[in-house]
Amino acid sequence: MKIDNLDLVRKSIEARSLAYAPYSNFLVGAALLGADGQVFLGANIENAAFTPGICAERSAFAVAITSGVMQFSAIAVAGWQQGKDSGQAFPCGVCRQFMVEFCKGDFVVLIAQGGDNYTTHTLGELLPHSFGPDDL
Ligand code: THU
Repeated sequence: MKIDNLDLVRKSIEARSLAYAPYSNFLVGAALLGADGQVFLGANIENAAFTPGICAERSAFAVAITSGVMQFSAIAVAGWQQGKDSGQAFPCGVCRQFMVEFCKGDFVVLIAQGGDNYTTHTLGELLPHSFGPDDL
């Protein structure tokens, strides 16, 4: 089955229910589409010591990469407060840099807004003039 943007957004909203975020109560889900069509889910996982927490985006990449997939075409991110059914969250700076390691500027970033609403961006737009593997 070919995954379209809306499918990926809906999967990110499903993934949001997997978040462990008892400190911020800000639940984030991510659905990462591999170039081969596989979808990998991630969610934010917080920690009592705060700094060890991981964002939804990087947790999705970790699942994909440890499944042997290293090429990607898009990610959807669904982030908003627990108990709400809409909002939005753009990837943090650390996640943008993490993505640059594996994705080019045309990598698609879909920002869920609740329901079937979302906006469409690219990694190049979110992190212009980036430093990545091609620079070393
Ligand atoms: N968070 C993500 O997982 N992804 C984002 O795009 C933004 C922020 C998480 C980190 C933390 O667990 C919570 O959201 C509040 O910052």
